[in-house]
Amino acid sequence: MRWLSQATDLPATVRGVDLFPPPVSWLPPNCILEVDDVTKEWTWQQPFDLVHMRLLDAAFTPEENEEVLYQCYRSLRPGGWVELLELTADFQSEDNSWSQDCPLKGFMPLMKSAAAKTGRPLHLYQRCAELVKSAGFLDIHEEVKKWPIGPWARDEQLKEAGSLNLEHWMVGAEGYVMYLLTKFGDPTPWSHDEVQVYLAHIRKELKDHNNHIYHRVLSLMKLFFRRLKERIDCLQSRLGWKIKLEILRPRVLIHGII
Ligand SMILES: C[S@@+](CC[C@H](N)C(=O)[O-])C[C@H]1O[C@@H](n2cnc3c(N)ncnc32)[C@H](O)[C@@H]1O
Repeated sequence: MRWLSQATDLPATVRGVDLFPPPVSWLPPNCILEVDDVTKEWTWQQPFDLVHMRLLDAAFTPEENEEVLYQCYRSLRPGGWVELLELTADFQSEDNSWSQDCPLKGFMPLMKSAAAKTGRPLHLYQRCAELVKSAGFLDIHEEVKKWPIGPWARDEQLKEAGSLNLEHWMVGAEGYVMYLLTKFGDPTPWSHDEVQVYLAHIRKELKDHNNHIYHRVLSLMKLFFRRLKERIDCLQSRLGWKIKLEILRPRVLIHGII
């Protein structure tokens, strides 16, 4: 929720939601933090301009994921936006700089196998577009970028992004891994100590600047076109007909009356 605490300059009320209270001691006056479960019915009364969701892979079952997106759809004001930001659940290297037996190669397969057993799979990156589309959003703006882990890239911007990502992994790895492996590790659940030893290897490899590792980050924004849908709904109820809509980006076509 760190980005939330940097929201001081936004001319808006910014609401952050998590299952757990975040470890922050100060917040800008325009920010509100709430402990809540977004898979439950949303009870906020005011419509939102933007719903931003980041790094929520393996947080939801496939059905919960769909429901969360529907709730976004219903909770945005006409013309509002949803933004999803997710990472690929794999590490990649284009120059083969990691050794054949580098422990990082087995890391994501292990995570995916454990996450699959929980019923909350690690596959949100691939599902984002489909989820948002089936919730009723239109007009996709999709951006995919490489995000290095560690400051190994020559490009200055990527180098800085890589340093931040390394920090993200150093701080976040235990949170990502401990629950999954102690409950659903392969072939049987791991002990706390086994996970700590494994994490020490993983951190060491991630910090090794000779390993040119990255993952991809997907930023997906959808313009919410409810205003149009509301007009169609209103027309339907006035005429007593059902209107079938077919959307051809970026144009909108009324396909026919059925
Ligand atoms: C990987 S963290 C990402 C946190 C934050 N979005 C960020 O990008 O820094 C995933 C967060 O989702 C929260 N979470 C998981 N399921 C949730 C739910 N059903 N409702 C609200 N928060 C949830 C977890 O508590 C955790 O803090």
